[in-house]
Amino acid sequence: AANKAWSGRFNEPVSELVKRYTASVTFDKRMAEVDIQGSLAHAAMLNKSGVLSDDDLAAIRGGMADILADIRAGTLEWSIDLEDVHMNVERRLTDKIGDAGKRLHTGRSRNDQVATDIRLYLRGATDAIVGLVHELQRSLVDLAEQHAATVMPGFTHLQVAQPVTFGHHMLAYVEMLGRDAERFIDARKRINRLPLGSAALAGTTYPIDREYTAQLLGFDSVTQNSLDAVSDRDFAIEFTAAAALTMTHLSRLSEELIIWMSPRFGFIDIADRFCTGSSIMPQKKNPDVPELVRGKTGRVNGHLVALLTLMKSQPLAYNKDNQEDKEPLFDTVDTLSDTLRIYADMMRGITVKPEAMERAVKQGFATATDLADYLVKKGLPFRDAHEAVALAVRYAEEKRRDLSELQLVELQSFSPLIDADVVNVLTPEGSLAARDHVGGTAPNQVRAQIARWRGLLAA
Ligand code: ARG
Repeated sequence: AANKAWSGRFNEPVSELVKRYTASVTFDKRMAEVDIQGSLAHAAMLNKSGVLSDDDLAAIRGGMADILADIRAGTLEWSIDLEDVHMNVERRLTDKIGDAGKRLHTGRSRNDQVATDIRLYLRGATDAIVGLVHELQRSLVDLAEQHAATVMPGFTHLQVAQPVTFGHHMLAYVEMLGRDAERFIDARKRINRLPLGSAALAGTTYPIDREYTAQLLGFDSVTQNSLDAVSDRDFAIEFTAAAALTMTHLSRLSEELIIWMSPRFGFIDIADRFCTGSSIMPQKKNPDVPELVRGKTGRVNGHLVALLTLMKSQPLAYNKDNQEDKEPLFDTVDTLSDTLRIYADMMRGITVKPEAMERAVKQGFATATDLADYLVKKGLPFRDAHEAVALAVRYAEEKRRDLSELQLVELQSFSPLIDADVVNVLTPEGSLAARDHVGGTAPNQVRAQIARWRGLLAA
C-alpha cells in the first residue's frame, strides 16, 4: 500500500526493501507516548490560537486517549507501511475520528515533531538515569561506611604504592558518579527546549503560540532558530557523551572487581548471582557481570562516535540521516540504565576480605614513603631519605619481612635518625591516620566524606 501521507506526487510505490529500509516504526514506536503528549499540546495551542475548533480539539483528545490505552494494552498494531511512529499514530487517529485527525498536523512537520519527541523522551530518560546514578552512589557510600577504616593497598602502575582504606577507594567512584550526575543534569538544560513550531525548517504561517506549547509540555524555553531546531541533535550527543563517561567509570571499577576477585588477589568476592560457571571447568566462578559492563562500555562509546559521525556532514536543515539517531540513543539509555541498576545491587553483594588486603599491603612495603617522610621530618633531605629507605626495603625483601617487622637496630643501620617512635609510621594504620586532610585517606576523613555524601544524596 502506498503511503497516503505523501504518495500523491509519486508515480510508483516503493519496493518492500526500500519500505523496510526507510521505516523507523520498529524502533521509534518507543516514543509513542511522548508523541501523543506533544500532539495534544500542539492541538491545544492551535485551539487557543483560533486555528482548531473546540469540537476538533475534543475529538482529538478523545481519540488520543483511546490510542494511548491501546498502546499501553499492547493492542495497537504498528505498520511499516506507515513508516514511523508519527504517521502510525496520526493514521490511527484519523481512522477513529475522521477530519479532526487530519487537521492535527496543521502548522507542524514531522521534522519539528520528531525533534520534540526525542527531547521529551530524553528528558524522562535523563531524570531516571540521574536517579539511578544516585542509587548506585548510595550503595557505594554504604559499602564505604562499613570499610571506612579497612586497610587495603593503594596502587599505581598496579604495583602496591601506599595504604588506603577500602572506603576511600569506593568513595573515589562516588566522586566520579557525582560528576556524571552533574553532567546529565547540565545536559538536561539543553534537552529541555521546545523545537515545535519550527515546522519543516522555516517556521509556519499560522498564528502559533510556542510559549504556550512549551508551558504545556514543561519545556523551559523555546528554540530560537527554526533551521537549527529541526536539525540539532547536540543534546543527544551530549547525553551520550555523559553516558559514555559514566560507563567508562563503571568499566574501570569492573576491571578492579575482576582483578580483586582473582584468587591471586583475593580481596573480594562477588555474590554468586552476578557470576556464572564454565561448561567445561567445574571449579570456575567467573565475574561475568563486571566483564559485560566492561564490554558494553565499548558499545556505548561506539554510539557516541556513531552520533558524532551522523551529524558531521549534514547540511542544514533536516535530513533523513537523522532517523539514524534513535537506535544508538535508545540503546545507550537501555544499556546505561540496566548497568546502573545491576551495579547498585552487585555492590551490595560484595564480600570484602580485609586479611588479604592487609597481607598485600605488607608484601608491597606500602609504608616505605611514610618512613621517608619520617626521616625528612627529622631533618634529612627528601632525596637522602628516599635512598636510605630504598636500602632498607632491599634488606627487608631479602629477609622476607615487612618494614614494620624489622628490629629497631636493623632500621637504625640505615639511618641513625630512626627512633622507637618509628613504629607508629610503619604500620598501615599509622600511615592512614597521618593523611588527615580534606581528600586524604585517614579514616576520619573518609567518614567526613561519607557524611557529606549522605547529605548530598538525601537532598
Ligand atoms: N522518522 C523521521 C525521523 O526519525 C521523522 C521525520 C521525517 N521527516 C521527513 N521529512 N522525512 O527523523
